[in-house]
Amino acid sequence: MAVEPAIYGASERPPRGDYAREGLVQADYTCPQNYAAYTAQDHDTYRRLYERQAALIPGLACDEFIAALPALGAKDHIPRFEDINARLFKATRWEIVAVPGLIPEVPFFTLLANRKFPVTDWLRTPEEFDYIVEPDVFHDLFGHVPLLFNPVYADHIQDYGRGALKAHGLGACEQLSRLYWYTIEFGLMRQPDGLRAYGAGILSSSGELQHAVRSEIPNRIALSPERAMRTRYKIDSYQQTYFVIDSFQQLFDLTAPDFTPLYGRVKAQPELAADARLPEDVVIAR
Ligand code: PHE
Ligand code: CO
Repeated sequence: MAVEPAIYGASERPPRGDYAREGLVQADYTCPQNYAAYTAQDHDTYRRLYERQAALIPGLACDEFIAALPALGAKDHIPRFEDINARLFKATRWEIVAVPGLIPEVPFFTLLANRKFPVTDWLRTPEEFDYIVEPDVFHDLFGHVPLLFNPVYADHIQDYGRGALKAHGLGACEQLSRLYWYTIEFGLMRQPDGLRAYGAGILSSSGELQHAVRSEIPNRIALSPERAMRTRYKIDSYQQTYFVIDSFQQLFDLTAPDFTPLYGRVKAQPELAADARLPEDVVIAR
């Protein structure tokens, strides 16, 4: 996702991507997908990323993701967003829109609240094949877009956009961004047959997919929005803590209440380190 700086952590480094685009970037930060700019090497890099990741997902990605992945279409080149939209809009009335890279919070949340998902249009270089800090078209498409075909998840992301605009007005963007990070980007789900990933940052990373689901190193804790909102996160390494849900319906229900009083409680408590453990944590076994 073209995740706004609050989500990826304030960075001194300007975001990558061509924001000038000769006037093609609109007031809402969307732009045409610059399809002609993709080189043969870009399409080949995308094909190799897709192939590696698709081979890894059985047993590591949640069932909803595996069911929806074919809806992305093209595997051997970067898809055209309009082709994906023809299917996506029919499925859940969502659309993807191209953006030149990271965009500010308010326009980002406004797009989500309007069921428009911002997708960065540039692709990483072959040198960044294994790991990239900033979201690119592969992370955004492969990680985020398949689950937008799932009706419960699709509604949740719209609610998140609306809730984030409210959080902005309450000065609680940092708190909600942490919840976003630990769910939409790095969430795990407990299925009857074991732990699986649904977070986009995990699903689009070959190393973190295996680490998040199988490694004995990280904490895995049943999701509590309050606990997640207090927990800092790393943007440039694998996560030290993953929060676990049982279903998208549970995520929807946990995030449905009015968060206004919760933000007050969270701000009154100390922040927690990314690897903190608390006695009240409900630890989830692999
Ligand atoms: N229910 C939250 C609020 O009232 C908004 C929200 C919805 C946040 C979905 C995250 C996900 O502020
Ligand atoms: Co993302």
